[in-house]
Amino acid sequence: MFKIAIVEKIDEAGLKILEKHNNFEYEIIENVSKNNLIKELPKYDALTLRVAKLDSEILKHCKKLKVISRHGVGYDNVDLNFLKQNNINLLITATANAVAVAEHAMYMMLSLSKGVTYYDKAVRSGDFKKNVSKIETYELFKKEILIAGFGRIGKNLIKRCLGFEMKVFVYDPYVNKEIIESYGGKKVEDLNVAVKTIDFVSIHMPLNKETKNLIDINILKKMKKNTIIVNTARGGVINEIDLDKALKDKIIFGAGLDVFEKEPPDQSNPLLKNDRVLLSPHSSSFTKECKIRMGIETVQNIINFFENKIEKSMIVKL
Ligand SMILES: NC(=O)c1ccc[n+]([C@@H]2O[C@H](COP(=O)([O-])OP(=O)(O)OC[C@H]3O[C@@H](n4cnc5c(N)ncnc54)[C@H](O)[C@@H]3O)[C@@H](O)[C@H]2O)c1
Repeated sequence: MFKIAIVEKIDEAGLKILEKHNNFEYEIIENVSKNNLIKELPKYDALTLRVAKLDSEILKHCKKLKVISRHGVGYDNVDLNFLKQNNINLLITATANAVAVAEHAMYMMLSLSKGVTYYDKAVRSGDFKKNVSKIETYELFKKEILIAGFGRIGKNLIKRCLGFEMKVFVYDPYVNKEIIESYGGKKVEDLNVAVKTIDFVSIHMPLNKETKNLIDINILKKMKKNTIIVNTARGGVINEIDLDKALKDKIIFGAGLDVFEKEPPDQSNPLLKNDRVLLSPHSSSFTKECKIRMGIETVQNIINFFENKIEKSMIVKL
């Protein structure tokens, strides 16, 4: 019998799979304070993980732990070196959330370019016609978008952009030209050059040493005044102070942020008061459908792991 810790609740559909299985028992751990995780986690063979941080101070107590199954695809909340050194496997829900995140990026681009928040407020406050001419709104039709990061989500987003008849450029040094062209995009080699002509940028790469602060004031200054930038990947890829400045100085038009350097962001974060920013609380993959898919896949990955039938695409190479 394997003992599974469900660290922060997942969808019932996933839990039901475990309940039907004779070889697994689970407990839900909602208190993710460091002290509680140190106290609770040592008795488990596997755990599912949402956003709680698992550093070496916690992991060094987990002597039985063989596998961590992320509810999602990012894993910057886990100490990867520790996992590697201690032969602990890391799994992701590789097929569960790309569509939801790609739709969220579309929603942010559409909302910002159509002035959705502004118009909504205007109508509610009785300004039905007066304010309409005060803001500029845009179409996606024939606009140029740069998809930065062309993995699962980038590849889902391009289909939606092409549906809106946008012209799509892709920046991803690790994906070759032929693959990008087969999806209908055009590969760009130099981010600094590419941003000079595009109207939208959507970020879909991991946060790591190479990508931290990749979008800073220098690169923002190269963009056109009407550029809308959307980040549904990880906070920190765009430098928040620089972004706030670029928006206030009207260097670019707007930004959509689902992710932040610090989550939740401090109330003093200037972006929270910047009306050129559309915000969401790291909720791109919170659609009903996606939560069910993620709950099922997170649990099924653990079962498949112990039954030696886990798919390669679900395993993170450490
Ligand atoms: N907001 C959310 O709720 C949410 C949900 C799922 C995923 N994400 C995040 O979205 C991002 C993308 O997820 P995915 O499933 O598409 O990942 P993926 O691993 O399938 O794709 C990432 C792509 O980024 C590329 N890349 C790596 N370094 C790069 C660089 N320096 N410049 C440009 N491209 C680079 C890789 O080659 C890869 O093609 C991740 O950061 C993930 O954590 C966020």
